[in-house]
Amino acid sequence: MIVVFGSLNVDLVTPVERLPGAGETVIGPSYALHPGGKGANQALAARRAGAEVRLVGAVGTDAFADIALSLLAAEGVDLAEVARVEAPTGAAFIAVDADGANQIVVAAGANVEASATPLASLPLGEGDILLLQREVPEAECLKAARRMKQAGGRVILNLAPAGPPDPALLECLDMLVANEHEALVLAQSLGWGEREPDDIARRCDGELGIACIVTLGAEGVVGWHGGVRRRLAAPAINVVDTVAAGDSFTGAFAAALAAGYGFSGALQRGLAAGSLACTAAGAQPSIPRKDAIEALVG
Ligand code: ADP
Ligand code: NA
Repeated sequence: MIVVFGSLNVDLVTPVERLPGAGETVIGPSYALHPGGKGANQALAARRAGAEVRLVGAVGTDAFADIALSLLAAEGVDLAEVARVEAPTGAAFIAVDADGANQIVVAAGANVEASATPLASLPLGEGDILLLQREVPEAECLKAARRMKQAGGRVILNLAPAGPPDPALLECLDMLVANEHEALVLAQSLGWGEREPDDIARRCDGELGIACIVTLGAEGVVGWHGGVRRRLAAPAINVVDTVAAGDSFTGAFAAALAAGYGFSGALQRGLAAGSLACTAAGAQPSIPRKDAIEALVG
């Protein structure tokens, strides 16, 4: 079982000719409304990759809540521990310009109320994995992580969005997943001079005892685990948009670990899922399924 403790949002996506400057208004023709949030995206990615998944988080009592939950419910993610709270469902306001560059404002809303308390009464054990990101309160992530460690399971933190993690949370981690920018912010927050993803991942593994995976976009991924380095190139694909690439990587990586694959096998499956997400438009609709992931792994 994978437990994701994390965010649920709706994404409101508006195409604009150019992104607004400070104090400026630009007008787009319309907007699209999609389910999103890193917690929800990664829960869906792990589920589509074949895992049993439970999502713990919070939405509001507004109409956006049902949209945020729609694809998760359809795919069979266990949503019993998603609380309905007196705050608006989290929302990301996304403007995308003609070149595909974006500007994003996230209103955390109900995600601020996300509580790790339900984990205390979940039947957790050795085979289980807790998957965390950085869009719900870190103090609650720490509680969730301590609970999973106490149950004997593994804890994975996807360091997104970038920021210095609580040192107490670092102590609970088995694995860290970051993109290049997030890895650099981590290194700086630890006072490390390393700038290369490979060096940062090696030091994280060697000194902190946390296996570290840095995704490298079109270059693939590098990971260090137990003193061993793995470097995999991304498959050649036709990129439509890279939205949800990181979430697909992380969810499928965790699903492969939960299914019993070793570090290399899990990296291969995360990589395939991340790359497949780039071949289709949007976030949750582009998150791949197990059959497509296995076909690409070969
Ligand atoms: P994030 O979306 O979090 O910034 P990355 O850009 O590193 O993360 O992408 C995560 C994964 O998605 C990569 O490891 C790779 O598998 C896949 N990916 C991203 N961009 C490309 C690309 N241009 N070509 C092939 N695969 C890609
Ligand atoms: Na996509």
